[in-house]
Amino acid sequence: MKNKIKQIIEMYKISGYHKQFIILFIIIVGSAILDIKIIPYITRQMIDVDIPQQNINGLIIFGCIYIIFLIISCYLTLKHCNMRSILERKIQKDLREKVFNKMQSIKTKFYDENDIGVILQFLQGDVNDAGKMFADVVTEMVFMGIIRFTIYAIFLMFVDLKITLAILVLYIVGYLVTIYFNKKTINLINKIRQVNIEIYSKVNEGVQGFLTIKILNIIQKKEKELKELLDEYETTNNKLERTIAIYNNLFAFIVSLSTVIIIFFAGLKVINGFMAYVEIMLLIEFSGSLDFEFKWFIKHLTDFNKSFISFSKILRFLKLDDIENIDGGENLEQINCIEFSNVYFSYTNNEKNIKNFSFTLKQNEKLALVGRTGSGKTTIINLLCRFYEPAKGKIKINGKDYKKYSISQLRKKIGYVMQDTYIIDGTILDNIKYVNSAITDEKIQNIFKKLKLHEKIIKLKDGYNTNISINPDILSTGEKQMINFARVMAVNCDVIILDEVTSALSYEAEILVNNAIKEVTKGKIVIIIAHRLSTIKNCDKILLMKEGKIIEEGNHSELINKQGEYYELVNS
Ligand SMILES: Nc1ncnc2c1ncn2[C@@H]1O[C@H](COP(=O)(O)OP(=O)(O)OP(=O)(O)O)[C@@H](O)[C@H]1O
Ligand SMILES: [Mg+2]
Repeated sequence: MKNKIKQIIEMYKISGYHKQFIILFIIIVGSAILDIKIIPYITRQMIDVDIPQQNINGLIIFGCIYIIFLIISCYLTLKHCNMRSILERKIQKDLREKVFNKMQSIKTKFYDENDIGVILQFLQGDVNDAGKMFADVVTEMVFMGIIRFTIYAIFLMFVDLKITLAILVLYIVGYLVTIYFNKKTINLINKIRQVNIEIYSKVNEGVQGFLTIKILNIIQKKEKELKELLDEYETTNNKLERTIAIYNNLFAFIVSLSTVIIIFFAGLKVINGFMAYVEIMLLIEFSGSLDFEFKWFIKHLTDFNKSFISFSKILRFLKLDDIENIDGGENLEQINCIEFSNVYFSYTNNEKNIKNFSFTLKQNEKLALVGRTGSGKTTIINLLCRFYEPAKGKIKINGKDYKKYSISQLRKKIGYVMQDTYIIDGTILDNIKYVNSAITDEKIQNIFKKLKLHEKIIKLKDGYNTNISINPDILSTGEKQMINFARVMAVNCDVIILDEVTSALSYEAEILVNNAIKEVTKGKIVIIIAHRLSTIKNCDKILLMKEGKIIEEGNHSELINKQGEYYELVNS
């Protein structure tokens, strides 16, 4: 509990809306006092004093005061609801922004450890629930439920202390029962969430990997897996509903005992002349209100426990280690030289994926990384882009440790062309402009002219405004690759990385891509990962990699003359 309060306070600090919460608190306390004490006092004054004394003036004056306070009370309730929903949306927006920004700066390991279903659930569901928890649940539970319950309990004590204490004991029992059942429901809710994430991932896999699943003929297997998950989802939900029903009945029984206590003990007092008859009615009325406020508190306590899980997840996530200097650090004007000096790296603790790796690359030089699958080629690029950092050794840019520079500037200077093209939602122009919003349409057209795709694009019905996310098949794989090249050409990069861009392409597509490579690499530092000889032959330096190490290095003719593993690889 202490830990929970600490976390909530911490998040309140992060949310930065203390002032609004204080105003909300004052409004709720104000309207509670109006509803509980002032308005009933006025009614009682009119019924008990003015009517028996036939005081018409008094009735008019108190009638007017009653209307004024009623209007104030309505206004405060309205204001409270309004403020709460505005706050809720604001906090959700802020949290989403914070989480999203964190996702940009967080160590890439997070994405290795969590699949897409978990991340989407996190950005959508968890952020919504955590936002709700602050504005809605905590305000309703603490400000409304607890405060109003306390005010009622105090008034009740003034009527009869002993009976009030007896009723409070019942509520304590009710609370303990609630805690017990809450634990059970939280476990079930957690399980439902987990299954939900798995269902989400399965459906995602079914949609994204539709063709692969079909080709591999594993539709039935996938359907069976999904059915099992859906069954588990249903049974756990049923269990949850049963648990909630048992709890609701048990709780209602315990709380209803308070009426019996009042009637019995207060009745005895009335019979013995120690209490006025009207006071029994007052006790029953107040205990009814206590009941209402307590149920209100408990209802929000369940919601609170649900959203607290999301909230803790977000808090833990926001505290995860960042890669340093995403925007801070020294300015990087231009990359003139890249140096790997005895670099070691592992993705996991089990295995070293890169071992004692060293090379230097200067302006206008081309480096090829060659090696069988899994030898660590892409890992070298991951390290250079600082998606990961070396465990040992140094990577230097212009002679300085690259950790000194801001990551965003480093990445802006590196153009990374991959085999797969990631198409964002929108037109051909949008897909280029998202890497450089300042670029003109004319410049984009010039780029596509160089990439020999302009003629094809202008023949499309909407030309450059064709939405390629809706019609992805309008462009072939090789043509889609041109989007990758165009993006790199739209930004002024110093280093160009080409990762397997020519593998798995048709003959025509290869011609197109080879032309694009020529265009994009002019005057740059280039790193090429390729299987095809045509792309690596002209490189200044070739590093042959095996199990994360360099086993041979030199230019093409040197390595061929050596008649070593490179020679074998080329001739295999
Ligand atoms: N995110 C990751 N988490 C854990 N291990 C990884 C991760 N990415 C790659 N590896 C492992 O690191 C090693 C090198 O992988 P890498 O992707 O660099 O190879 P590659 O030479 O690019 O292979 P390919 O030619 O198939 O693209 C492999 O053993 C791979 O299983
Ligand atoms: Mg690779």
